[in-house]
Amino acid sequence: MPGVSIPNALQTELQRQLNHELSASHSYTALAIWCFEQNLKGFSRYFYKQSSEERLHAQRFIDHLLDRGVMPVLTGIDTPRTHFDSLLDVARHARGMEQANTRGINQAYEAALAAKDYPAQVLLQWFISEQVEEEAWADEMVARAGASTTPGGMQALDRHLDRYLADRGHEMNAES
Ligand SMILES: [Fe+2]
Ligand SMILES: [Fe+2]
Repeated sequence: MPGVSIPNALQTELQRQLNHELSASHSYTALAIWCFEQNLKGFSRYFYKQSSEERLHAQRFIDHLLDRGVMPVLTGIDTPRTHFDSLLDVARHARGMEQANTRGINQAYEAALAAKDYPAQVLLQWFISEQVEEEAWADEMVARAGASTTPGGMQALDRHLDRYLADRGHEMNAES
């Protein structure tokens, strides 16, 4: 396959991040299942949507590697965490995942800078912007879940999120 070769150290980073995105997708599915089982259907729907987005993120890396003549290599995915104490616990877990993902993106970007690999830099710049949004909503979710610790408060927050998703079809961080 024709294409510009990618330096080895950068290939390693892109392959790692590709698999990290798949792992994030798997973890979000676990959060969606937990929320559904807790009758938090709005959050469940939201996390399924996040899971789908993470798969699309993985696909961006797959397409980039293939376009440049590098075979994407899928690894095994670790068992995600499936038990949580509360919605706040879930929100904190999601935030921790996004923070870890940002570190992974930044690390890959460092490799692209070191390699002076401009196409990978452009690919990763999209992810850098995306992570700002992802961390913003994760922070908001932690704040909202922390403020709604009663069962009634959690259900109200869940209905709010469900309506918000139905109306807007995107993230909850735009308005209250
Ligand atoms: Fe992602
Ligand atoms: Fe994400």
